Amino acid sequence: MEDKLLNCIRQKKSNYTPIWFMRQAGRYLPEFREIRKKNPDFIKLCLNERLAAEISLQPIRRFDLDAVIIFSDILMVPYGLGQKIEFKKGIGPILGDLNFNVILNTKPNDFIEKLSPIYQAIKRVKKDIKNKNLIGFAGAPWTLLMYMLNKQSPKKIFDINKIIKSKSLMRDLILKLEDIIFLHTKEQVKAGADIIQIFDSWAGLLPKDKLSEYCYIPTSKIVKNIKSLETPTICFPKGIGENYIDFCSAVKPDCISIDYEVDPKWAKEKLEGTPIQGGLDPKILFEDKEKIKKSVENYLNIYKGYPYIFNLGHGVLPETSPEIIEYIIQIIRKKK
Ligand code: CP3
Repeated sequence: MEDKLLNCIRQKKSNYTPIWFMRQAGRYLPEFREIRKKNPDFIKLCLNERLAAEISLQPIRRFDLDAVIIFSDILMVPYGLGQKIEFKKGIGPILGDLNFNVILNTKPNDFIEKLSPIYQAIKRVKKDIKNKNLIGFAGAPWTLLMYMLNKQSPKKIFDINKIIKSKSLMRDLILKLEDIIFLHTKEQVKAGADIIQIFDSWAGLLPKDKLSEYCYIPTSKIVKNIKSLETPTICFPKGIGENYIDFCSAVKPDCISIDYEVDPKWAKEKLEGTPIQGGLDPKILFEDKEKIKKSVENYLNIYKGYPYIFNLGHGVLPETSPEIIEYIIQIIRKKK
């Protein structure tokens, strides 16, 4: 197998730039929307091993990508811990009330059984791909805790002081999440995932003095455990700005995914030694082709000779044209 992403993460010398896109399996693809229309229950769709495998493969049927990310969601972990979740059209996820006893007492085997279709989907995808790496993923403890307590996206309603109520309860929940997230990633590795990405999409909500306790320490424990499976981890602590430096020193991820607010030159200098992924603002994909080309080439030029995985600085937006994804790949493959 040609391990394009793995080789890059392991810092093997190469002129090749591996490519994949966060949220590559999703709403910008008409073939995804077609399946979604017939499957109004998003959780059920994630637990349909045949369709989850099919959706994961949709982007690589169209594009010359180097990795497949399994179609699932970070909120499958709270679901596996017994919290109710609904995905409402135009609103996003709405979570049910949190029952601490149910969550803290969830047995690992029951969790694995509840989510087993995800692992079965990974096995199916693994059988169907050649020369591509398979990426499994999980949300980081903080981002999951945030959804579990805030019960909806923090874009409209969020108050950190209301979230962090009782210190000891927070500690128990974080410890439970560390264990269960590792268990979830371990099952994905056992099923065939080559790489794990940890999404801390809301790390940027944490004030600097809480980053260590809620982001660096819990994430570093998970990364360390995944390392023991001889599987590398890509971390995406979105929105933490210059704290990417402290994150890398504390967590030691095998690869760091930068968001669109991070200056790529700054990152290359300050995060030296850690392979870098991503960065390009997903909104650039709505600009004209000349502007897109310039922006993509800017990343390629800056990271020439550096272990760099091309990706965006957050997920592909639903309004993105699939043709533009193709165009970007052609630029990187030096065909345009
Ligand atoms: O990357 C991929 O293509 C694989 C699948 C994937 C999904 N969600 C499918 C999905 C991955 C890796 C995720 C991760 C995820 N989910 C994150 C971390 C990455 C990020 O974007 O910050 C977060 C925060 C979530 C939680 C979540 N799931 C939200 C807030 C929403 C609703 C709004 C949105 O962003 O789409 C979802 C739903 C979701 N997850 C959809 C898909 C394809 C859309 C479902 C639909 O409405 O059809």
